[in-house]
Amino acid sequence: MAEREPIGVVGTGYVGLVTAAGFAELGNEVWCVDIDAEKIARLKRGEIPIYEPGLEELVARNRSRLHFTTDIADALANARLLFVAVGTPPTYSGDPDLSAVHAVVDAMPASDRHALVMKSTVPVGTGAAIKRHFAQAGKGDFRYVSCPEFLREGSAVGDFLNPDRVVIGDDGDWAGDAVVELYAPLDAPLVRTDIASAEMVKLAANAFLATKISFINEIANVCEETGADVLEVARGMGLDRRIGPQFLRAGIGFGGSCFPKDVLGLKQLAGNSGYHFQLLNAVIEVNELQKRRVIGKLHKHLGSLVGKRVALLGLAFKPNTDDMREASSLVLSARLQADGAHVVAHDPVAEEEARRLMAGIEFADSPLDAVRGADAVVLVTEWQQFTELDWNEVAEAMAGDVVIDGRNALDPEAVRAAGLRYEGIGRGRSGSA
Ligand code: UDX
Repeated sequence: MAEREPIGVVGTGYVGLVTAAGFAELGNEVWCVDIDAEKIARLKRGEIPIYEPGLEELVARNRSRLHFTTDIADALANARLLFVAVGTPPTYSGDPDLSAVHAVVDAMPASDRHALVMKSTVPVGTGAAIKRHFAQAGKGDFRYVSCPEFLREGSAVGDFLNPDRVVIGDDGDWAGDAVVELYAPLDAPLVRTDIASAEMVKLAANAFLATKISFINEIANVCEETGADVLEVARGMGLDRRIGPQFLRAGIGFGGSCFPKDVLGLKQLAGNSGYHFQLLNAVIEVNELQKRRVIGKLHKHLGSLVGKRVALLGLAFKPNTDDMREASSLVLSARLQADGAHVVAHDPVAEEEARRLMAGIEFADSPLDAVRGADAVVLVTEWQQFTELDWNEVAEAMAGDVVIDGRNALDPEAVRAAGLRYEGIGRGRSGSA
């Protein structure tokens, strides 16, 4: 095997750590840099600060090739390519906060043998702005490559090793060639393009997927009024190859660190350049309303929620992650409490994170502890533990009989056979198939 190029990765969050471990698996020496000394100390001890299936094993297997440091100079001394995977969280306006990206850019020395490879999701035009900045600071020979990341939390390791495509936006120089070379062993379709287009691919792809979810959620809402079952509708639609079966799962809305931020970010980007992106406004609004529809369903079955005990099964924004960013559970639990309900919740891994973000709710150690004495149960995150529940046991433990399936992940027949009232999202008239 030809000698693999050493690389630096700045930022050891989901994207940075998976990218680092993934390239180490491909044989690259990787210098991982983070300003959080505590995090670096934990990583040096072999502890993985996030929950991501397969990541701990991947890091352990490639320990000898992974170097952890708080000093960016270590990465600069050992690697030409510095991947940037720092956070770009949304600000109050919806424009992403690029201060962490700027801090990395400012830490770069003048050099004609280094390049930044941007993995963090940034607005279109960021690459051009950084190149301008380099030129003004007398660092015009520093190269820049946009290489957006598409991995999903919960399946990030598999997504890294088996991507649908690799997108590389560059100026056609040595740095772009080197990034192409890095990804070559994955044998994925390559889209090599200009920097602005690469930046836009990421935003447009996420906005499109979010649109698909809001679309099917609206179809689900109409199904409830008209007697159709959204699962059957999605099945029929998805077989059309132009539509495809994925991202047609109706539910209580999308969350996570990417979709809400990127949809808003693209809307703002368009607005900043004078274009009103009408469709994205609707995608965002539908998603906000969708999180709240469960409240209406509970009112329909229980009347007033004052003093009612409501059990939430799952809190993370989706299964197989402890990530609570923009999770539908945050809005749902706050709305329930505002309506006077007592909220008790169980999540197999997100509890620690949830405790930081949610006030006034009770945490249970198991699904059965959560549903004990509950008037209603809401499936919020479709963890496998919940889809495999014994509904007779649940029925026995509950005080009431209402089960709202916020992800259409339960078997309605099994729930009903236990004597419970089942209601999903878009499952025929009044939401129950
Ligand atoms: C997403 C993109 O898929 C990924 O390419 C990008 O890099 C980052 O954003 P992720 O946030 O990890 O990844 O989650 P994903 O699995 O895409 O789900 C996002 C949200 O949409 C979740 O809240 C999920 O519950 C919801 N969703 C997804 C639906 O409600 N219905 C669907 O059909 C699919």
